[in-house]
Amino acid sequence: MKSMAVIGSGMFVTGRGTPSHGTVIPALVMMLQDRTLDEVVVVVRSEESEGQLRADLERLFECLGWRVGIRTAVARSASEVQAVFDDCANLVGCIVCTPDSSHCDYGLACLRAGVATLMVKPLANTSYEARLLTETAEDLGVYAAVEFHKRLDPANRRLKLAFANGLIGSWHTGLVEYSQRRSIPMDVFGKWVSESNVYNYLGVHYADVIRFATGGEPVRVSAHGQYGILLEHGLQVHDTIQVLVEYELPAHGQPFQLYMQLGWNDPPASSAISHQRIQVVGSEGRIDSDQKHRGHQELSSKGLDDLNLYFTQPFLDGRGGVQFGGYGIDSIHQFARDCMALAEGAVEYQMLYESRPVFREAAFSTAVGDAVLRSIESSGEWIDVDTSWIVGARN
Ligand SMILES: NC(=O)c1ccc[n+]([C@@H]2O[C@H](COP(=O)([O-])OP(=O)(O)OC[C@H]3O[C@@H](n4cnc5c(N)ncnc54)[C@H](O)[C@@H]3O)[C@@H](O)[C@H]2O)c1
Repeated sequence: MKSMAVIGSGMFVTGRGTPSHGTVIPALVMMLQDRTLDEVVVVVRSEESEGQLRADLERLFECLGWRVGIRTAVARSASEVQAVFDDCANLVGCIVCTPDSSHCDYGLACLRAGVATLMVKPLANTSYEARLLTETAEDLGVYAAVEFHKRLDPANRRLKLAFANGLIGSWHTGLVEYSQRRSIPMDVFGKWVSESNVYNYLGVHYADVIRFATGGEPVRVSAHGQYGILLEHGLQVHDTIQVLVEYELPAHGQPFQLYMQLGWNDPPASSAISHQRIQVVGSEGRIDSDQKHRGHQELSSKGLDDLNLYFTQPFLDGRGGVQFGGYGIDSIHQFARDCMALAEGAVEYQMLYESRPVFREAAFSTAVGDAVLRSIESSGEWIDVDTSWIVGARN
């Protein structure tokens, strides 16, 4: 018997509030179907959430053309999670998918219960929380990683290869554009968006991509933010944020400058959930990776859709049913397989520690986030990124 727990049942878990089905549950139901897992328990906060979860699962099963059993459990706060875990036979891991400001409480509850933890990004809202989570995981020897699925996107793996083999010489500058429809913060998570910001929600992904591709360390940050339509709708959060991050890259004599233009300002008519692209200019060439226009466009009575077929998507499986695929699915599967391999002794904790976005590794992106907020408050002043505790001795 092997079970996996999921805390939270929102957009990323089930596609709640959108026509999609999310990523976490589609990935896990496939593992139930092929019996890699025996049980999935979704932990919700209330009976009302449980009802909504059941409705979202029905939508998914209708799309799949097949169904599996999913157990639900109610925990009204992080302190009730242990009791849910006690009820699970051979729990191999837990995926925490709650609002950013609750990541620390739920993460600590999982780690203290000795349960391998996958935290959706961002690791935490602040470096203080990131450090607490990291040191708790390491002190207790519990495997803990962040669900940075962009590390599995072939385009970003190619970027890493290009850095490793020096394809474009030394890296000088980079540009990231990442924005989403404003309906996402307004309609999907309006209740908690004011506790987050567009760096923590979007930019953090590409701060991690640069860490993944280069192994570099962020040194200092200058950032600006603009209030607009979100504030007009009562949400105390910037529509757009621009961030300049200076990195020290391995074997590079001069700093690498990454400019990120981030926004929750795309109008509803945008042809994709996200505009996302990354460019890098080096001493001997450049890389342009358009991560929105992946070459698959659908125009129907519903409108124009630029689909990212590489991220979570449903596909016909050739037997009349539907299976989900893409790097979002791969990322959840990777965590579940890592947990099982750890439990069986088939993989060393150290091997995962060196190859996955474990908490200490993910903490670089949170440290950038701290500096972003401080720089915005001081009108774009350069703020040093404090990574001193991250680069200290590893376990
Ligand atoms: N939506 C995405 O595509 C996506 C992708 C990657 C990561 N994430 C991250 O996943 C997390 C959840 O995002 P989402 O889009 O599913 O949000 P959501 O608002 O749709 O869902 C949040 C879930 O957490 C529950 N919840 C709300 N407040 C809570 C609290 N204080 N304690 C415990 N549970 C609470 C809600 O009932 C809901 O089930 C966020 O940290 C987000 O940044 C989202």
